Amino acid sequence: MPTVERSLRLVNPALLDVLYRLVSGRLDWPLLIHGNVGRGKTAAALALCDIMPTACYWTAETLGSFVLGHEPAEVENEFRVIGEKSLGILDELGARANAGDLGRSVVQRFADAREMQAGRVAVYISNLTPAELARVLDDRIVSRIACGTIFRLDGNDRRRQS
Ligand SMILES: Nc1ncnc2c1ncn2[C@@H]1O[C@H](COP(=O)(O)OP(=O)(O)OP(=O)(O)O)[C@@H](O)[C@H]1O
Ligand SMILES: [Mg+2]
Repeated sequence: MPTVERSLRLVNPALLDVLYRLVSGRLDWPLLIHGNVGRGKTAAALALCDIMPTACYWTAETLGSFVLGHEPAEVENEFRVIGEKSLGILDELGARANAGDLGRSVVQRFADAREMQAGRVAVYISNLTPAELARVLDDRIVSRIACGTIFRLDGNDRRRQS
């Protein structure tokens, strides 16, 4: 997992409220967080991992590399493992490097695993808005990752402050 500072104390208060409502069943999964670089999207999702019994974190790019570098049976097994976690996070959706067929396919398979095995408990993260994501990925995939709760994380670039 990435080495960003992760603590629920650091999470934007409005997003923290959304996280509590999600885990208490008052908002629908999945959560799609979007916003510009350095706003704390990844840090917030990783902080949520710490209060879930089990979790997995992938970026679309690392998952694409995993798929390319492993045998189909190992890939199949990994998607099964993804579906078994209490929480699944898929970060950096729609980044230029993973916008092709492989990128679309890994998002689709990740969403399938979370829908079939895990009650849609997932966090999807992107720098793109849902409308922009629909152009880069495809409408059907985006309708699945944007069918729950959508949160735009604004504010300052935290990397520039430090
Ligand atoms: N509330 C906060 N207060 C201080 N630092 C924070 C806060 N949230 C995140 N950070 C730090 O700011 C940096 C950027 O956060 P993070 O990586 O979560 O941003 P991001 O929105 O995922 O950015 P990107 O879109 O580039 O992936 C990290 O080093 C993180 O530890
Ligand atoms: Mg990030």
